[in-house]
Amino acid sequence: MIKNFTSKILRLLKKTPVYELKDVFTPTSSANISYISRTSVEKKLKKALDIPGKQIVIYGHSGSGKTTILNHIVKEQCLKTITSRCTNNSTIDTIILDAFDSLNQYYTESTNISHKESLTGSITSEYLGIKSSITGTLENNVGEIQKRVLPPQLTIQRLCDFIGSTKALWIIEDFHKIPESEKSKISQMMKLFMDKAVDYPNSKIIVLGAANNGYEVVQHDTELNNRVSEIEVPLLTTAEIVKIVEKGATALNISISTETATEIAKYANCLATIAHQLAYNLCFNNNISKTQRKSVIIPNSELDQAVKDFTSEKQDTYKKLYMKITQQREGKYQNVSIILSTLCEMNDNVTQHALLTKIQENFPSYPPSNLSTYLKQLYSPEREEVLRNNAGRISFSEPFFKSYIRMLNVQQP
Ligand SMILES: Nc1ncnc2c1ncn2[C@@H]1O[C@H](COP(=O)(O)OP(=O)(O)OP(=O)(O)O)[C@@H](O)[C@H]1O
Ligand SMILES: [Mg+2]
Repeated sequence: MIKNFTSKILRLLKKTPVYELKDVFTPTSSANISYISRTSVEKKLKKALDIPGKQIVIYGHSGSGKTTILNHIVKEQCLKTITSRCTNNSTIDTIILDAFDSLNQYYTESTNISHKESLTGSITSEYLGIKSSITGTLENNVGEIQKRVLPPQLTIQRLCDFIGSTKALWIIEDFHKIPESEKSKISQMMKLFMDKAVDYPNSKIIVLGAANNGYEVVQHDTELNNRVSEIEVPLLTTAEIVKIVEKGATALNISISTETATEIAKYANCLATIAHQLAYNLCFNNNISKTQRKSVIIPNSELDQAVKDFTSEKQDTYKKLYMKITQQREGKYQNVSIILSTLCEMNDNVTQHALLTKIQENFPSYPPSNLSTYLKQLYSPEREEVLRNNAGRISFSEPFFKSYIRMLNVQQP
């Protein structure tokens, strides 16, 4: 009794922070409260940030945590940044304009003194002059489709000066989305930044892209090799995902068993975004919207509903795909669903023989020829290339889809 009372008092004295659920489990944004350190990637990133003139390419599968890790370090080191986001329609001009707009925070009156101190009067007035010429272009076009025109004074060189003078990092997100034709121009831009490193040692470009290697993101020429640091962010491990769930649970003062956290990690298939969503659903369904004053235990049985909610939210994208690829004429076996549901319970990169053996545990006379025929189709556009075969090793092309099928399996055993 006394012990309980004392721990309550201690807790109150410590002023345990109260967090909102949406800030703890963040399926669509960078994690902060539930952020778990990834020492080796963080170390590489900090090192590259420290070297003057070193430009950075961060690459890895979508959802591997590129933006999150960069945001974490930017925050930790209180770095100044501007961010441009690429789309399928981005051109070098739109990217330059975007960056120019983001610089506004450092050049306008409202900016705080510490940001402004490094800016000379002449660069500020030049910035404001260009800004008003861009605004002018916009006002002239009111009522029409507004296409902003890059003013001739706003060259890449001048943009480098504007960014360099603020000592900001220029983060270019989703670089893989921009058309091939524009990519080489970015390499040129990186080169310019490097050449200007003497004048602006703190500024650099950081390009992020969902790709298998850095070169796929920015095809820089060999001259740049030593001056670009390519940093891979691998998908999270199961143990790391369990840690995220546990860290979030601690912040909310709830208890999610290791068994449930491990199940969540299994469904997530190395994608933290899925783990965040499942944990969010779990809390939401149990009326946990913020840190609890008294610890609450979430029963293991609640996970099923969280999974059901997740799959029904994904109804549009994955369900349609699933229906499409599982279609076949009448036959003894539902081939595609048998193959996919077996494969999703196995590790990535299995051999056809291992897959067959596993299928035959449930369907002892499943014919090897059926497996060969349908696998071939699943590698091809005929069945949306949902699987890939890398030197005889089979895996899902898209980890998100593997997770989805795992969740479907539970609902339709
Ligand atoms: N270290 C981490 N700790 C906790 N959660 C993380 C961590 N890294 C990523 N996440 C979570 O994983 C999800 C995906 O992360 P993020 O958006 O950073 O990935 P990304 O690699 O930038 O993806 P994309 O290429 O699609 O932009 C987010 O929900 C984020 O909160
Ligand atoms: Mg990102």
